[in-house]
Amino acid sequence: MTWINAICIEEELHICKNASMHIRPTPEVITVAHTKGGAGKSTLTSNLAFALAQRGRRVLVVDLDKQCGQTMLLGLSGPRIDRLSRQPVDSGAVLRGVARLHEGVWRDVHPNLDVLPAHEHSLAQASDELVAEGVAGQVRLYEVLYDQRDWDVVLLDTPGTQSPLLTFALTASTGVLVPAIPEAGPVAELRTVLDHIRFVGEVTESAEVVGVVRMRVGGNANYRAVAERRIRELCTEYDVPLLRNKVPEDAKLGEAQLAGLPVGAYFPMSRSAIAFRYLAEEIDLALLARPHGEPGVAAPAPSPVR
Ligand SMILES: Nc1ncnc2c1ncn2[C@@H]1O[C@H](COP(=O)(O)OP(=O)(O)OP(=O)(O)O)[C@@H](O)[C@H]1O
Ligand SMILES: [Mg+2]
Repeated sequence: MTWINAICIEEELHICKNASMHIRPTPEVITVAHTKGGAGKSTLTSNLAFALAQRGRRVLVVDLDKQCGQTMLLGLSGPRIDRLSRQPVDSGAVLRGVARLHEGVWRDVHPNLDVLPAHEHSLAQASDELVAEGVAGQVRLYEVLYDQRDWDVVLLDTPGTQSPLLTFALTASTGVLVPAIPEAGPVAELRTVLDHIRFVGEVTESAEVVGVVRMRVGGNANYRAVAERRIRELCTEYDVPLLRNKVPEDAKLGEAQLAGLPVGAYFPMSRSAIAFRYLAEEIDLALLARPHGEPGVAAPAPSPVR
């Protein structure tokens, strides 16, 4: 029995925590999180996934956003539909346990890059059901992704709110990436995001921040320089790494998204495509540099889902 089977029994929690201390699950599971809509999460997820896949990493993108951003950005027509039940085989179905992960995954959407798409209603239903299940629901995604050896990295795209789906993602994660667009709304919300990640991380001992990624940088506007300074200050205050490589504002990115492609596939020599390649290298090295055998995810305490 793994600790995860036992965590519902409160008395065993201490033993289970100790038992998990030297387990880092395969693969790395990275949540892309920001509780503001339009903060760059889906753009970062799809383009970083593509760039990591180009580096030879086997990558799975899991869409956990009811708006289904990855379905559009990676050019999928939507999840498969189960022929018998007529239900979508999406991330929601996998979370509810009515479909297995491998049944829902679209293989080789790009070389080395697989995708588990979302379906709005199915994912909403899953979210409600998992909340009702309490701790067992909170760790379901962890259980699904634990020891999935088909992939080196799983990227979780999350909703732009403090939804239970974000908490499930953070609970399942070995790391978090936070996009930071140097504009008033996303920057004002950055403290809330970092607080939420810290809160979940303290309870579950998971989800350390791998880095804050500056997105849509550039332009001459003065406020952007001020906003960038604010991002730097918050990273220092929360003691989280501000990644060296940033993604510039680039209209080519929007054009590629309209075509349902990562910019690296559509305009490989564009500024943003090059930036994503450098960013992928930096993140790859940061992940590899993390000491192996350190606690990746420990037993989540039976906390209420926020
Ligand atoms: N570097 C960039 N250059 C130009 N446009 C960008 C860049 N990064 C992101 N965008 C644009 O910003 C918008 C918001 O990005 P995105 O959809 O990734 O945000 P999100 O956080 O996933 O939003 P939501 O919470 O609504 O899902 C998109 O239209 C995207 O094309
Ligand atoms: Mg999105």
